[in-house]
Amino acid sequence: MSKLAGKTAIITGAARGIGAAAARLFAAEGANLMLADLLAEPLKALAAEIGPQAATCITDVTDEASVRNLVEQAMARFGQVDVALLNAGIEGALAHPTEYDTATFDKVIAVNVRGVFLGLKYVMKAMEANGGSIVITSSTAGIRGVPGMSAYIASKHAAIGLMRSAAMDGAPNKIRVNTVNPSPIDTAMMASLENMHGVAGRNDRPLAKATPLGRYGEPEEVARMMLFLASEDSSFCTGGVYMVDGGVSGGRR
Ligand SMILES: NC(=O)c1ccc[n+]([C@@H]2O[C@H](COP(=O)([O-])OP(=O)(O)OC[C@H]3O[C@@H](n4cnc5c(N)ncnc54)[C@H](O)[C@@H]3O)[C@@H](O)[C@H]2O)c1
Repeated sequence: MSKLAGKTAIITGAARGIGAAAARLFAAEGANLMLADLLAEPLKALAAEIGPQAATCITDVTDEASVRNLVEQAMARFGQVDVALLNAGIEGALAHPTEYDTATFDKVIAVNVRGVFLGLKYVMKAMEANGGSIVITSSTAGIRGVPGMSAYIASKHAAIGLMRSAAMDGAPNKIRVNTVNPSPIDTAMMASLENMHGVAGRNDRPLAKATPLGRYGEPEEVARMMLFLASEDSSFCTGGVYMVDGGVSGGRR
């Protein structure tokens, strides 16, 4: 049976990577989709691939009017919002705090923290009457530190803080809120991180080898956890942190 039949889902950061994988899976499970991203072309291509159940809205998650418009567009097109995947994110720089560019720090916090806050602000209002499920993409960076990524680490910890407070605030209205915490997943973001680490090509992937399962995860493997949390399969789950990380948070191999 389709797990999201009759449901409408907003997905931010939907143009590629984990967000796009979730969009394909949610569509296959019967959801109507409002796909949001800054990247217009891949977003349109994804919606065309999925078909008429998918609509797009060019959105900057850091901009309040843009996020308000996204939720209004979803309501106007589909009449309801049952699921929101607040997934847009950026990695920022790889630098010691003494060298970290302050404008880059502010940008990471704007997308990864303010963007999630604005999503909660408008989506929770839309879900007030009928409840719903909100899934926020945090990271293993939300529960531990790694060197050189102060802004990203802080932002992904903050995403868990926003999730926990929203789970408490949403519970009386039957709005469930959880985080999915991936890493390391084979996407453009991971390629960018490899580049910053000076990794020499696709066969030299120390970040994958350092994972207990010995490989990167695929975006689809994260999307399956997101589907669980979006659907009624997780009807008693709220305020939780769900790792999809090949064992990274469990310790060293
Ligand atoms: N790839 C990994 O290993 C990994 C690990 C942990 C967490 N994550 C998180 O997963 C999420 C998805 O990342 P991904 O790996 O698919 O990376 P990605 O770079 O492929 O996708 C991120 C998407 O977010 C969009 N985006 C960025 N800024 C935006 C803004 N201001 N407004 C709207 N959209 C914006 C981008 O255009 C892009 O399409 C992010 O929150 C990321 O931090 C990824």
